[in-house]
Amino acid sequence: MAIFGIGGKKDTSAANPADNKLPEELPTHIGIIMDGNGRWAKKRGMPRTFGHREGAKTFRKIVRYCKDIGVKNVSFYAFSTENWNRPTDEVSTLMELFAGMLDDARDYIGDGTRVYIIGDKSRVSDKLREKMIKLEEDTKEFSDMNLLMCFSYGGRDEIARAAKRLAIQAKNGEIDPEDINEQSIADNLYTAGLPDVDLVIRPSGEYRLSNYLIWQCAYAEYYFTDTLWPDFSPEDLNAAIIEYSHRKRRFGGV
Ligand code: IPE
Ligand code: IPE
Ligand code: MG
Repeated sequence: MAIFGIGGKKDTSAANPADNKLPEELPTHIGIIMDGNGRWAKKRGMPRTFGHREGAKTFRKIVRYCKDIGVKNVSFYAFSTENWNRPTDEVSTLMELFAGMLDDARDYIGDGTRVYIIGDKSRVSDKLREKMIKLEEDTKEFSDMNLLMCFSYGGRDEIARAAKRLAIQAKNGEIDPEDINEQSIADNLYTAGLPDVDLVIRPSGEYRLSNYLIWQCAYAEYYFTDTLWPDFSPEDLNAAIIEYSHRKRRFGGV
């Protein structure tokens, strides 16, 4: 079975942590807030951008591991609408690192992964936007795993955008405002057609969503760890999935 096509090999070192440990049923959609790069670098007396470089390596490793163990949908929070307010040099480094992650994506996503890049693409450079759109186009026939990258993404921004789209449809007479409901809002989010998040993992010891997929996480389970993102490992992901498998989800029922 070709797992990492395009000349790649199955990385068994990444697969091993799963052995005999993971539950049979994995969360359908795992969301990961990649936080703690700056503190990781600071602890080493290095600039924050050094932490982002390490974090980008961790991202590649964890995507590959998700594919290996058979996760169907995974979302990574890479850059928020609020992160645009950071110092210009840090933002530039994050843009450059993200471009690099798109360039070599096929090396770590393997065959069969469909990539969605969700967020406000109008704020990024033309060159970066073209890369984003190309990768989405090139992978759109794949369905083994959906990889969502939230970039220039904000949950409130996404909901405001959905509201605007619905208002325009109503104005044009395409829909009746009386018919707007939860489903029509969901259908106008970036994640239309994709499942809600089941498990949110946030490293770095912060206990918040920071505007991450706020609609889609309405009934998610949360897993927090003090590990900083550059140190996050397949074992940490296993621990989160195992903890999730012991949760009792009720969705408001009894
Ligand atoms: C996550 O790490 C990366 C982004 C938010 C882009 P941070 O840069 O937030 O690292 P800390 O939280 O300051 O340690
Ligand atoms: C959330 O981290 C955004 C990403 C990981 C991309 P932040 O570091 O921006 O979140 P806050 O500021 O601690 O809430
Ligand atoms: Mg942070």
